[in-house]
Amino acid sequence: MSEPETRNHVGAPVRRQGPPGAGTLRDLSRPGRRASSLPALDVPEREIPPEHARRRPPALPEVAERDLARHYTRLAQMNYGVDTGFYPLGSCTMKYNPKVSEAAAALPGFSRLHPLQPEATVQGMLELLWRLERALCEITGMARATLQPPAGACGELTGLLIMRRHHTERGDPRRRVAIPDSAHGTNPASVRLAGYEALHVPSDARGLVDVSALEKLVDEEVAGLMLTNPNTLGLFEEDIERITRIVHDAGGLVYYDGANLNAILGRCRPGDMGFDIVHINTHKTFATPHGGGGPGAGPVAVTESLEPYLPVPLVVRDEASGTFRLEYDRPRSIGRMHGFHGNVGVLIRAYAYVFLHGRDGLRAVSERAVLNANYLARLLEPAFPLAFPDRPPMHEFVATAAPLKQRTGVRAMDVAKRVIDLGFHPSTVYFPLIVEEALMVEPTETETKESLDAFAAAMLQAAREAETDPDLLHEAPVTTPVRRLDEARAARHLELRW
Ligand SMILES: Cc1ncc(COP(=O)(O)O)c(C=O)c1O
Repeated sequence: MSEPETRNHVGAPVRRQGPPGAGTLRDLSRPGRRASSLPALDVPEREIPPEHARRRPPALPEVAERDLARHYTRLAQMNYGVDTGFYPLGSCTMKYNPKVSEAAAALPGFSRLHPLQPEATVQGMLELLWRLERALCEITGMARATLQPPAGACGELTGLLIMRRHHTERGDPRRRVAIPDSAHGTNPASVRLAGYEALHVPSDARGLVDVSALEKLVDEEVAGLMLTNPNTLGLFEEDIERITRIVHDAGGLVYYDGANLNAILGRCRPGDMGFDIVHINTHKTFATPHGGGGPGAGPVAVTESLEPYLPVPLVVRDEASGTFRLEYDRPRSIGRMHGFHGNVGVLIRAYAYVFLHGRDGLRAVSERAVLNANYLARLLEPAFPLAFPDRPPMHEFVATAAPLKQRTGVRAMDVAKRVIDLGFHPSTVYFPLIVEEALMVEPTETETKESLDAFAAAMLQAAREAETDPDLLHEAPVTTPVRRLDEARAARHLELRW
C-alpha cells in the first residue's frame, strides 16, 4: 500500500472559498438592491386590504442575483458529500447515490404531479408506490408496508404506535419496551414519544445482546423489544431466534430496526427470523440522498396480523381491473404519520435503485458492503484495533483509539479532525457509547479498493503522527472554513431566529 507521506496538509476537499469574511446573505444586503427587475405596472394598482397587509416590510436581505449566485456557489464548494469523496460515517451508510435514480425522480410525469389529483390521472405513480411496497415486503419477509414515514426515526414511532394499538386492542396496554444498550439514540427517543418507558438490555462480552439478562428483564409489562441487526457494533446478533422467542413467549412483539439492512440484503429476512415490525431507511440502504436532516423515507413493514393498524392511505390494486386506488377506510389504523404518501421523490429514487439492482444485484450489494468493511478493518487494525475482535464485522465496524490515547494522549476526535486535513471525511466517533474512544467506520459497497487503501493510509499516518507530533492532531483541522466547533452548543442553546 502506498501511503501519502506528508506531515502537512494534503488534498483536503473542504476548503475556504471566496473572500475571507464573506458570511451570510444578510452581510451582503444593501438597501434597494434586488435580484430581479419588473417592467412598469400596466394594470390598475390595487391596494391590499389593511387587514391583510403586513405592518412592516419583510426583513429579507436585499441582494443582486450576482450576489446570490456567488453566495450559494461558494457554500456549495465548501460542502462535502458523497459526490465529493469517501464518506465513511458509521451508522449512516453514506453510499454514492447513482444518478439514474435522480433522473427517474426528475421525470416530469412524476415531478409535476399533485397529490390531490384524481386517482385516475395518477395511476403510474400509484403503481410505483404499490410495486415498491411489494418489493420492500419481499426483501424484509413481511406482509404489508406503509411508505409514509419520512425518516427512520418516524418509522420507529410508527412501528411503536402499531405495537401500542395491538396491545391496547387486547386490553393489555403494557408499559415498557426493551432496547439493547448499543441501540441508536432514536430508539429510546421513539419509545418515549410512543408513551412507553425504555428498558435497557445490556450487551455481553461478545458485543451482542446478553440473552440471560434479557430473559430476566422481560415480563408481562414489556410491550416488545427493538433490536438493531447487525447491531451498532456492526455485529450480527447470533441469538435472534432465542431473543424473539423470549419476547413472544411473554406476549410482546419484536421490532427490527432495519436501518442496517445494507448488511443482509438478499441473504436473510427479518420476517423469517420471527420479527413482527421492521423499518427500513431507504435513504441509507437504497441510496437516496440524505444528510442535514432530510428528506428521507422510513417505510415500515409488518406481519399480516398487524396490517390493519398501518397508517392510511394504503395503495391497493383492484385485481379485476388492474387499476390502483387509495384505501382510507381502515377503522383500526393508527391514522396518518405524514401528508399523502410521505416523501415521494425519495421513494421514486428507492424504487429505481431496487428494480435496477434486482434480486442478484441487491445480494451483491450486501456482499460487497461486508467485504469492504472487513478489508478496511484489517488495514486499520495495527493502529486501531476492533472493539470486539472475536467476530468478523458485517457492513461496518467499531474500532477503538483507546490504546493510542493511552500511549500519546491523542483521542479519537483528534484523529477524526486530522483526517479532514488529510483529505477525507472522518468516521463516526464516540458512538456506540459502550465503546471507549470509538471509531465507527462504514465504507459501504460503493467504494473501490483504492479509496479504502487511501483512507487507511491517512488514518495510519495520523496514528504515526500521534506518536511523534501529537499537537499536530490536537490542533487539527487547519484546512477547513471553521476549526473545531462546539458540537453540543446548537442542541443546548437552540436559536432558530436572529
Ligand atoms: C440503527 C439506526 N436506527 C435508526 C436510525 C434513524 O434513522 P433516521 O436518521 O432516518 O431517523 C439510524 C440512522 O442512521 C440508525 O443508524
